[in-house]
Amino acid sequence: MSIATVRAGSNIAFIKYWGVADETLNIPLSNSISMTLADAHTTTTVAWDETGALQTDIFVLDGVAQSPARSQRLTRHLDILRGLAGVMWRAWVTSRNNFPTASGIASSASGFAALTVAGCAALGLEMDPTRLSALARRSSGSASRSLFGGFVEWEKGSSDADSVAVPLYGPEHWDLRDLVAVVSGEEKKLSSAGGHLLAKSSPLLNGRITHVGGWLEEVRGAIAGRDIHRLGPVIELDALAMHSVMMTSSPSLLYWQPGTLEILQAVRRWRQGDGLAVYFTIDAGPNVHLICAAESAPEVETRLSALRSVERVIISRPGPGPQLLDEHLI
Ligand code: PMV
Repeated sequence: MSIATVRAGSNIAFIKYWGVADETLNIPLSNSISMTLADAHTTTTVAWDETGALQTDIFVLDGVAQSPARSQRLTRHLDILRGLAGVMWRAWVTSRNNFPTASGIASSASGFAALTVAGCAALGLEMDPTRLSALARRSSGSASRSLFGGFVEWEKGSSDADSVAVPLYGPEHWDLRDLVAVVSGEEKKLSSAGGHLLAKSSPLLNGRITHVGGWLEEVRGAIAGRDIHRLGPVIELDALAMHSVMMTSSPSLLYWQPGTLEILQAVRRWRQGDGLAVYFTIDAGPNVHLICAAESAPEVETRLSALRSVERVIISRPGPGPQLLDEHLI
């Protein structure tokens, strides 16, 4: 069997991964916790050329053939899989995201999770999800968390084998929603890959890392008790702490747009003024993720859509881990 197709969900981090202790292995400075998304996923088919005729890997993303420069990260990841299987074969890789690029949903998380699982399955490499999580981590730290469904913690560990994600609870544990408010007038996203290397240049990094252990504890407790009012304040605090590190690194990373701030202020107004149980978090971009219980989502969506700077809203439920599909994209 040299072909396999896998669908993997993206994830939204409640406590973020920002900064690396080991940049070659992608070992992070702290643990992180996320929710895997059901409605924002990547589907990837990997077909290995066992004949050896193919000279380079071929990568088609959302119907567009990618240049060698844009395929570099993928080829480096396939090199790791080739090394494990002891083969030199090149591969055809076709991927499709069900969410738009620049939507503020991490395509590297779902992309490298799907690529890892499909690539290994097509090579006949038998690996458990923990091993696959370590492999996915090599190319995108957040992808390590997408190897499991529901609520997931990536334990930083100290080596390639033990820096892996562990499942905390399945997707059915808590019916949360992630509403991504896509901000208009967006500039090109600065890649997070380079950002992780800059974290150490921020004078605020140590402050965040000193506190993150307590915040992780709080998030674990909030998820266990399905308590949105316990989860919310700490995810906002950590997102603001991560962006403070980003803004104060050299060079400074400023991901926010005016619309980002409009949404943050609106969320606080809705909560404090109207008692709406909704909280924000922000990844490496200007778009804002609003986290709330399922029953609050329609009201949050209506209010978000009425804001001047919100271009569109993408809603996702908690989702499963990667799934092998019978139908291939090639
Ligand atoms: O996995 P990367 O290298 O794309 O980094 C992800 C960084 C954040 O999305 C900002 C935080 C996180 O933990 O997902």
